[in-house]
Amino acid sequence: MNPLKIRDIIIDPPLALAPMAGVTNHAFRIMCKRTGGAGLVCTEMFSAYAIKFKDPRTRSMLDWTDEERPVSAQVFGGDPETVAIGAKAMQDYGVDIVDVNFGCPVPKVAKSGSGAMLLKDMGLAREILAASREAVSGALTIKTRIGWGDDDVTVFDLAQAAQDCGIDAIAVHARTAVQGYSGKANWDIIAEVKKRIGIPVIANGDIKSPVDAARMFDETGCDAVMIGRAALGDPWIFGRTAEYLRTGTLPPEPDCAQRLQGAREHAALLRLVLGEARAAKEMRGHLVFYLKGMPGAPALRNRLMTTKSVEEILEVLDEACSQCEPGVY
Ligand SMILES: Cc1cc2nc3c(=O)[nH]c(=O)nc-3n(C[C@H](O)[C@H](O)[C@H](O)COP(=O)(O)O)c2cc1C
Repeated sequence: MNPLKIRDIIIDPPLALAPMAGVTNHAFRIMCKRTGGAGLVCTEMFSAYAIKFKDPRTRSMLDWTDEERPVSAQVFGGDPETVAIGAKAMQDYGVDIVDVNFGCPVPKVAKSGSGAMLLKDMGLAREILAASREAVSGALTIKTRIGWGDDDVTVFDLAQAAQDCGIDAIAVHARTAVQGYSGKANWDIIAEVKKRIGIPVIANGDIKSPVDAARMFDETGCDAVMIGRAALGDPWIFGRTAEYLRTGTLPPEPDCAQRLQGAREHAALLRLVLGEARAAKEMRGHLVFYLKGMPGAPALRNRLMTTKSVEEILEVLDEACSQCEPGVY
């Protein structure tokens, strides 16, 4: 397992937290760093238009700290000049890597000609690549899907265009936009992208365990892997994966007490970022994942879902934790 170098940025271990809107804010990114193992964390995506027009809410979300570094911040947009402005602003805000989104299939984003819609218009995609490259002097990457639909796999053209334009690395989520999250990610396409281009390839889609991550490296020859949904409620997955890749031994999953403690730490971090009420609301979503499969989870979940503040969440988690036997999974 070699570290990945993107310009002067070292990603070690070569395991990245995928950008996830509504999830990968400062609190979650810190969790993935502190539990050990994430070599790179990515922000949620930001609208280049919102950045251009200095939207205050967007500005407040540009909140990375040194503890997270290296950190990648993602922008999306469908107009080359605007994307370039957004990308340059990210660099000026001090992010380590600027990432441009070519893969978001969400109608609100795609309808504006951004995200995965760019996979249908290689001319515009190329203009966006060139304009962003001109605007950003540091590390610049893109993240994409394999194409719009099954008959429309354009990732090879996009990867070639990215390389031609001087983009430093490409992350590929091996599904089409039409697929959404259904079906299986097609890792063979990632392997083919890796064969065809010389810039680093970060492989993404359906890595659910350290063993899957190892298989992704083996089957695609990728330079790094990116994990999204499997990190929900399990930020420890990066640490376990790093150890498995290093030693070949699969470390144990965190026991109930560790998971409850992790949830506690996550809630406290969220409160710092979002304030009491918003943090409680967002944390209730995460708690479902932290509690998954735990003995007594349904009753505990029901109690937690009626909490109104992080303070209450912490009290319930403390009580549950005090009743946990170490080593119970
Ligand atoms: C809730 C959620 C939000 C996401 N938001 C983004 C995003 O803002 N930008 C992006 O490039 N991908 C986004 N994705 C896609 C993930 O980065 C990743 O490509 C996808 O989940 C597949 O990886 P996985 O199988 O490891 O989850 C999101 C996915 C989820 C589940």
